[in-house]
Amino acid sequence: MAFDEELMKKLVSLCKRLGFVFQSGEIYGGLQSAWDYGPLGVELKKNIENSWWNFMVRTRSNVFGVDTAIITHPEVWRSSGHVENFHDPMVDCRSCKGRFRADQVEGRKCPECGGELTEPRDFSLMFKTFMGPVEEDAAVVYLRPETCQSIFTNFRNIANALRPELPFGIAQIGKAFRNEITARNFIFRSREFEQMEMEFFCRPEEAGRWMEYWTAERLAWYSSLGIRKESLRLRPHSREELAHYAAACVDIEYAFPFCAGGFGELEGIADRTDYDLGAHMKGSGQDLAYVDQAANQKVIPYVVETSGGVGRTFLAVLLDSYYEDVIEDRERVVLRLSPELAPVKVAVLPLSRKLEGDALGVADILRPHWPVSFDVTGSIGKRYRRMDEIGTPYCVTFDFDSLNDKAVTIRERDSLGQIRVPVERLVDVMTGIFAKGWGNA
Ligand code: GAP
Repeated sequence: MAFDEELMKKLVSLCKRLGFVFQSGEIYGGLQSAWDYGPLGVELKKNIENSWWNFMVRTRSNVFGVDTAIITHPEVWRSSGHVENFHDPMVDCRSCKGRFRADQVEGRKCPECGGELTEPRDFSLMFKTFMGPVEEDAAVVYLRPETCQSIFTNFRNIANALRPELPFGIAQIGKAFRNEITARNFIFRSREFEQMEMEFFCRPEEAGRWMEYWTAERLAWYSSLGIRKESLRLRPHSREELAHYAAACVDIEYAFPFCAGGFGELEGIADRTDYDLGAHMKGSGQDLAYVDQAANQKVIPYVVETSGGVGRTFLAVLLDSYYEDVIEDRERVVLRLSPELAPVKVAVLPLSRKLEGDALGVADILRPHWPVSFDVTGSIGKRYRRMDEIGTPYCVTFDFDSLNDKAVTIRERDSLGQIRVPVERLVDVMTGIFAKGWGNA
């Protein structure tokens, strides 16, 4: 399928109609660039996060998880350089009052109305709030604009608690907040979003090797979600483009239909050197060096960071799985989500309302094992289509024969293949299908 803007419109509308994503505060006109995940969206989001956590933390002996506070000590952001550097130059239109990032506007005319633009001014991207009852400078705290800084500030705690040998990683998934000047393109750029970050602490001379390793690993993870190879690409940063803390950086990009050049950032993998630990040592006056007991040596580790967004992965997964095809002369929309990510894994569909009671018994058998949907309304064809549209990989149909032969039919979403299975073997058969795939079980 061509990557086009029409696809994006269809997807945003599907997300709202079926309960994946809603605009926050919609009944009050909507809060720009804040999004609420609905019943299907929250399942898909959790499935993405669980997949990341398994891949990055649970299946490795040297990567450890944390979950740190969102409200952060202001000194963290002074030391990290965010208070001083984390801003974008912006311009305002004197006529329509529109606000734009200066680097995204050509010339001195407003891109919306042609009005005159102001001189660029710096605009802090950090959300500030006050801790305690008095709104004064001494009470200022920040909502974190990235999750990684509290990994650096906890480095010594984790090294002391677990005594890991270098190299090792610390990972977390959590909310981050940025007061983006131009938040747009649905959940691609919002002001409140979730990051999945891992900081890998290694010997300085090994950082290049770990950059290569993690770039390959991260690319493999996106492929494991079912995203096609041709939708992904790697883009190394040029020297001029590197962030102040990075010695090297590679972006994993996805073919987002709205991005200039056809691709946009999903995740950055960066060699952050010893910049962050060094900055927090300086700012806090504490020794954050790693003590190598065997060599009786202190070392400030280098950090290779993998930093991706949950919302961007969510969007890429949906865009990549959206298909329109025709079956038996009828059009259908189908989300070809991998079974691992699908919000509903199995739908139980009685052929007729008269079979509802018996079919509910089958749903009850499946429910302890997988998220199950039960649907009795409308023709069976319509119900299959509803399930295809939300990406449900398997439908179990209970028909009149089921009353006698105590068997049901499993239908697979993509191939439309069907098999008849005794109810008493249904859980075993479904377990095999989820473990090995439809064709291999
Ligand atoms: N710690 C490094 C860091 O935060 P970043 O490139 O600014 O690097 C990492 O952000 C990832 O976070 C991006 O690749 C993107 O997936 C996600 N992200 C950043 N800003 C975002 C926003 N405003 N809305 C949604 N996702 C965002």
